[in-house]
This record gives sequence, C-alpha cells and structure tokens, in this order.
Amino acid sequence: MVDEIRRTIKNLPPYEHGKTIKELKKEFGLDKIAKLCFNENPYAPYPSCLKAMKKELENLNYYPDANYIELKESIGRKLSVPKKNIALSHGAVGILEILSKLFIKKGTEVIIPESTYGLYEDLSKGLGAVVKEVPLASDRINVEVILDQITSETKLIWLCNPHNPTGTIINGNDFEHFLNQLPEHVWVVVDEAYYEFTNTEEFPNTITTIKEGKNVIAVRTFSKAYGMAGLRLGYAIADQVIIGAVKQASQPFNTNKAALVGAKAVLKDGSYFEEAVNKINNSKKNLISELRSMGCQVLPSHTNFVFFRTPYPADEISEELLQKGIMVAAGSRWNYDRGIRVSIGKPEENKKFLKELKRIINKKKNK
Ligand SMILES: Cc1ncc(COP(=O)(O)O)c(C=O)c1O
Repeated sequence: MVDEIRRTIKNLPPYEHGKTIKELKKEFGLDKIAKLCFNENPYAPYPSCLKAMKKELENLNYYPDANYIELKESIGRKLSVPKKNIALSHGAVGILEILSKLFIKKGTEVIIPESTYGLYEDLSKGLGAVVKEVPLASDRINVEVILDQITSETKLIWLCNPHNPTGTIINGNDFEHFLNQLPEHVWVVVDEAYYEFTNTEEFPNTITTIKEGKNVIAVRTFSKAYGMAGLRLGYAIADQVIIGAVKQASQPFNTNKAALVGAKAVLKDGSYFEEAVNKINNSKKNLISELRSMGCQVLPSHTNFVFFRTPYPADEISEELLQKGIMVAAGSRWNYDRGIRVSIGKPEENKKFLKELKRIINKKKNK
C-alpha cells in the first residue's frame, strides 16, 4: 500500500520540525526561550482580536459563513479591492497550496529563485513540476535573471517579496519592468507575507498591477504583522477568474470562526497594529546597527526579521545560541553557511540575543 504514495511526494526532503520549546527547556535546563526563528509577532494577539474571539467562542459549534463575506469586505475596504477579488484560506500556506494545484501538473515548468521560502519548491515538486531554480544576485531576487530563464513551457513563477530569508525587496521599477517583459502564458505568484512591515515608496503596488489585468496573484497573511500565526489565516488577491478557481479548489470551510472575527477586529482597530509594527521596525533598526558594530555583514530588511553573516559557520552559532535559550534560523538550509536569520522579538529578547551572539563571536575570534 505504501508503494501507492506518489513518488514526487516520497522524494521530497523530510520536514524538520526541530525541538519543541518544552523539550528545549528540559534539555538545557532553561526556564525561558526566546523564539526568534519563525518571524512571529511578540506584541500580539492584539486586545481587539482577543475580545472578538472570546465572544465568538460560544458559537464554535457552528461552521463559519462559507463565503467569509464579512472579512472579505473588511479586507476589501482596507485595500480598496472588491470582495470578488479576494479568497481566504488557513494561512498563506493554504492559498499557496491551492494555487499550486491550479497551475501545476506533472512536467509543468516553474521558476523559483534559489534560497527562498521552501514551500514553493516542495509544493511544485510534490505535483511533479520541472523546477528551474534561479540564483539570487547580491542576496536579492534579480528579475533579469528570471526573465532570461522563461521559456514557452514556463507556466508559473513564485516570488517572495519582501524576500524570506534575506529581507530584501524587488523594487517597483524592477517589478514593473519584469511584468512588462512577462509573456502572456506565464503567471506570477507574489508572496507578500511581510508586506505590512514595508515602509518605502519603492515597494511595488501589486494590487494596482492586478487591477491593470497583469498575470499577478498576491498572497498575504494575518500571521505576521497582525499577530495571528496560531489562528491560521491568509488570503489571495487576484483577478475574479483566478479567485473563482481558488474557491473551487479549496476545501469547504477552510478557515475558522475565531480567526475570522479576530481578523475583522484587528483590521478595524488599527492602533495596536500600528504601534506593534512601529516597535518592531524601531527594534530592527537598533538590532541592525548593533550587529554591524559587532562586525557582522547585515542586509537591509523590509520585514520583521534580519539576515546577517558572521565569519563563522551558522550551524555552530545557532547551536550555541540554542543552548542559551535563543532560537534563530541558521542559513545553511538556504545555502548560506554563514548566514543567520533572526526575528525581531521583545526588547529583552533582542538584547539577550545580541549579548550571547557577541560572547560567541568573541570566543571564536580568540580561539
Ligand atoms: C514568505 C512566507 N510565506 C508564507 C508564510 C506562511 O504564512 P502563514 O502563516 O500565513 O501560512 C511564511 C511564514 O513564515 C513566510 O515566511
């Protein structure tokens, strides 16, 4: 029976979950862990979200409204997008999975930048796609390199903007140029999971490109800036035809009532959201300058995490940090052997991270 499992799925690398917080505390005898590895939001859930969800708890014996109309209207109002152009799912990952099903069958050619969010490759390969990986240039997605790789067989391009793990962006001019050169048979999924942390005019306006009829699908989430990672809620913005197909390919009731009311509440009450995003962006500035003063090579970040290089192997550094109760993402999984991605945590967590990193680097220097 096991032989019946699709070969493309069997061939995928196993998913590494890592140790749980409970296991780590026990192993290293710690009472606190700074979880700075998943780009979560330390300032949430926001009070308005909690309040709305608490009220909804007593209704959880019922399925949600199948069309999620109220939340789509709230998102639509915020982004000036009609609700017919919005689809919801259990996290951005739910949307990404549905999109892969819409576009990919065995042999479909897809393009993915190297060293990016791993799900694009897993979903594509799992469905039997022929994946063309294109290198980053100076740690950034380079649209020219991607354009060069497009053939008459290419169907889909996965882009992460801002980019996880490097935190860099494709700017508006480059994105416009890219779309102008894009052949009509190719669709682009732009994963904007970190969109709300960007505060530069250089960031492209994907919604405008969708309204203009370009082959673009934007994917966003309530997990990051809205602080609802544990509730699992993400959405797509796209042409009505794509949204219709997403709906047809979705499981019925693919999100939950608590998340729906929580998200509606955070969209309405923007004050905590803005305060948290500001705090995160300010802590980020400070973290970047501290890392630079330690001699690390730090990339600019348009997200709630920072990517930097030290002169030492990232696996060793992240392991030593872990022993002190600090979880970061070592860059080796993205072929950055000396790169580390650290999420912005609460000020005391960032301080602890900097202190321990400094100690580890000095120890290595003096060896
Ligand atoms: C680029 C990117 N896309 C999607 C996700 C997953 O988002 P969600 O929690 O909405 O499934 C993440 C989570 O880290 C991410 O970094």
